[in-house]
Amino acid sequence: MPAPAKPRVPSVHTGQALYTRSFLRAYDTLVYGVNSPLTWRCTKDRLVALYDRHVSRRHLDIGVATGVLLDECRFPVPMPDLTLMDLNPHSLAAASHRLRRYAPRVHRADVLRPWGLPDGLVDSIGMFHLLHCLPGTLADKAVVFEHARRALLPGGTLFGATILGAGVRHNRSARWQLAVANRRGVMCNRQDRLEDLHAALTGVFTDHEVTVVGSVALFRAC
Ligand SMILES: C[S@@+](CC[C@H](N)C(=O)[O-])C[C@H]1O[C@@H](n2cnc3c(N)ncnc32)[C@H](O)[C@@H]1O
Repeated sequence: MPAPAKPRVPSVHTGQALYTRSFLRAYDTLVYGVNSPLTWRCTKDRLVALYDRHVSRRHLDIGVATGVLLDECRFPVPMPDLTLMDLNPHSLAAASHRLRRYAPRVHRADVLRPWGLPDGLVDSIGMFHLLHCLPGTLADKAVVFEHARRALLPGGTLFGATILGAGVRHNRSARWQLAVANRRGVMCNRQDRLEDLHAALTGVFTDHEVTVVGSVALFRAC
């Protein structure tokens, strides 16, 4: 009798390997045309509004995919100093091309390891839909908040969004997608709860705020 299939152990690699050129071509329609409004019940407009509130003239964005949110948000200056960071070279290529009007710098790095950027580099960091791709619990993922605090100038703001796996109401489509994506290792958030996000942010930042919209936690910390 064949041995039962082992569940895939999520790794840093599986969380970003999905972002091939062909997947990135479909990303905006799939994620922001279908999944965000219907499955996670948090529209792109809500996310862009969070950018509009917090994005600054010296901004670092981490986990960029196609760069759609940065493309649609309003920077406070016409020519922001923009750095794009991602582990996946296809995401960096797609986002930097889309945002070429800002001549962004690209930086390839794993957000869970030291970022290799100077301390006090930026006034704002965007981290949208990245935490739920990372392996481990929210307590394990909190190391990215430490790295973010170091990269921020005093008074700078980290802001972002992540899909919570537990403790919020999920519709049927959300339950199905969470099960499949967590089994495949492209998401790792079955245990991600609002209280753990609060705890992780409290451990690093002096002030933070989290709002839940559908299955998604929107956060800001400084
Ligand atoms: C779901 S997309 C989010 C894209 C965009 N921020 C948005 O909200 O539409 C996740 C992105 O995070 C990147 N990523 C995943 N794991 C990473 C890691 N460990 N370090 C850096 N980037 C990572 C992926 O390559 C991908 O570009």
